[in-house]
Amino acid sequence: MSTPVLRVGVLTGGGDCPGINAALRAVTKSLILKHNAEVIGFLDGFQGLVERRVEPLHARDVSGILTQGGTILGASNKADPFNYQPRGGADVSAQVAKTYQNLDLDALVAIGGDGTMSIAHRLAGLGIDIVGVPKTIDNDLAGTDRTFGFDTAVSIATEAIDRIHTTAQSHHRVMIVETMGRYAGWIALHAGVASGADVILIPEIEYEIDEIARVCRDRERGGQHFTIVAIAEGAKQQDGEHVVQERGAEHTDSMRLGGVSNVLADQLRERVDSSVRTTVLGHMQRGGTPTAYDRNLATAFGTRAAALAAAGTTGTMVAVQDGTFTNVPLDEVADQTRTVPLNDPLLVSALDLGASFGVESPAIQDQADRAPRPTSP
Ligand code: F6P
Repeated sequence: MSTPVLRVGVLTGGGDCPGINAALRAVTKSLILKHNAEVIGFLDGFQGLVERRVEPLHARDVSGILTQGGTILGASNKADPFNYQPRGGADVSAQVAKTYQNLDLDALVAIGGDGTMSIAHRLAGLGIDIVGVPKTIDNDLAGTDRTFGFDTAVSIATEAIDRIHTTAQSHHRVMIVETMGRYAGWIALHAGVASGADVILIPEIEYEIDEIARVCRDRERGGQHFTIVAIAEGAKQQDGEHVVQERGAEHTDSMRLGGVSNVLADQLRERVDSSVRTTVLGHMQRGGTPTAYDRNLATAFGTRAAALAAAGTTGTMVAVQDGTFTNVPLDEVADQTRTVPLNDPLLVSALDLGASFGVESPAIQDQADRAPRPTSP
């Protein structure tokens, strides 16, 4: 084999999700095999970049990881170099830029979510040639219609709600299932529709508790003695607050959400006769083997990121828009959240089928009526 002509670093930032290893494999193998590059992996996300913890990655190191969940490099969501928690929130970004130069890197591929892309954007401003690869179960990154990890999370949440149907029907209960997703309702919407949930609560539509209770009672009266509620962790009551599990500057996110299903259950118990139960799916949604869709999306993103890095096209993130692969400047991605628009085709379909979003809102219906009809399932 000829002497490598390029040296490219790769890291996986933020929380893990199914498909990261598939992306890592694609980046590494295509850089080595197609672009004649040498690849260096940073351990534990940006922490490895700050502390210069590196490992050379050869094709054999990424062999057999396509189907594995998690990340073989490790990840961290406490290692923002501009607010570096292991050193009391110090700005160590200059040190990162120096490490990048000392390692003689031509580019850095950062696989991550919105926190990672925001950091990548700021590091690009310090002269680091970065290519972003979007991952997250939340599907909330700006600039791309899909992130890998999302399809797997939706499949897991859908299966969980399907299973919960059994108990709901048998015991005539209101069963509430809480999904992850932070401030976007993509997982709850997609899993809720796929599993035929009766009520779908997402952060984009603030719910009214009396409306949800009305739906439960009407179903009961109509002979359907159970109700399934899919609720996103970021959903909130009208004029209410997010339900927060933990606040802390340690995390790149200042609030860790979780527990809204329990708050909702307590409120519903005061208003309906049926028993109410909750299930919080939590990190189940992030674990295990990626679906075929996520493996392929991660692979396509990874090879494209390698090609961009090799061509010196940096300061950008690979993306898919309207079914076409593309790349978008990091400044259009940084510090943004892509939430569910009220005219989202799947949301419209759910409304057409009588699902409740927790509000009796002509405004939603109006917007939904004007939304484009779905072209694919
Ligand atoms: O961003 C992915 C995600 O799983 C969110 O859906 C969730 O709110 C958060 O990460 C949980 O973070 P942690 O793994 O730090 O508890």
